[in-house]
Amino acid sequence: MAQKKWTIILIGLFVLFLYVFFYFIIVTQQLERTVARLQYQPKHMSQYPHIVLISQVFDNPYWRKIENGAKEAAKQYNINIEYTGPLQTSIDEQVKLLEKAIASRVDGIIVQNLKDEAFTPLIDKAISRNIPVITIDADAPKSRRIAYVGTNNFEAGQLLGRAVVSRVEGERAIGVIIGTDTSENQRLRLQGFLSVIAEHPRLQVVSVTSSNISRIQASIQAEQMLRKHPNISVMVGTSALDAIGIRMAVKNLHRENIQIFGFDDVEETMEAIKEGDIVATVVQKPYDMGYSAVKLMVDHLSGKQIDKEHFTAIEVIDRQNVQQGRNK
Ligand code: BGC
Repeated sequence: MAQKKWTIILIGLFVLFLYVFFYFIIVTQQLERTVARLQYQPKHMSQYPHIVLISQVFDNPYWRKIENGAKEAAKQYNINIEYTGPLQTSIDEQVKLLEKAIASRVDGIIVQNLKDEAFTPLIDKAISRNIPVITIDADAPKSRRIAYVGTNNFEAGQLLGRAVVSRVEGERAIGVIIGTDTSENQRLRLQGFLSVIAEHPRLQVVSVTSSNISRIQASIQAEQMLRKHPNISVMVGTSALDAIGIRMAVKNLHRENIQIFGFDDVEETMEAIKEGDIVATVVQKPYDMGYSAVKLMVDHLSGKQIDKEHFTAIEVIDRQNVQQGRNK
């Protein structure tokens, strides 16, 4: 009788053991599946994707407009946007910020290309780690970036050339200040500008130098250029603060007869156009660049196909249309 009782207890314990054992296996499998799902869930499925926007100079007025456009789009599309950039233009600093964004596995990067050799390998590294990169303002066409958003810079250079041709009379020597000598956008602007000037033998470009996108440097470089080439009577600047710097140099040297042409619509440039100190400027749409870059990133992250090139508008502003209001 006692033996039968023990047999029933043992069978009961065995059944209990089997139940616990299989329950354990089932729960373990369920857990593994959940972990796997979380691991392979695309990062963009999280609620607020983290996108980093790296500027050329953090507090430059042109880049602040790009930031404003990006933040507006981020608000509309529930994006967590991080605006960053060096205090002064520096390829090394920008490269470090790009490396940091890749290491922190952000959901997307928006960056300008300041130098092919430095940026193309890093952009490709981000892509190989599944971090989409959109170039803004200056493209990196040899990289695997998913898209470029910004001005068609060759055309913008041509537009500047035509603005000069139509507003300058007689034989003239021209001095050119470009932003940076390595970046794709400045290279293309200069090429576009020279291609138009070359069709007009009465116009000669006698000197080209770079301002490092600093208004002080633009002024110093312009002053040196004007001392070295006293025959220069037209000066052009191809980045946002160059014309203002040239204007300072012209005032210092009392050479107010020099005709100045610039780029972009920062406040001082617009004031100088109203006062007649700057003849005309080629205006880009930095706010639209920032907005569109974020919007395109959102489209890409949600699986939509996006085009590789998105050119934003450009226009010439001079004394005739300067009153019509400015870009954001
Ligand atoms: C250029 C930017 C540059 C800015 C500097 C703009 O014209 O498109 O690349 O950073 O000027 O002031």
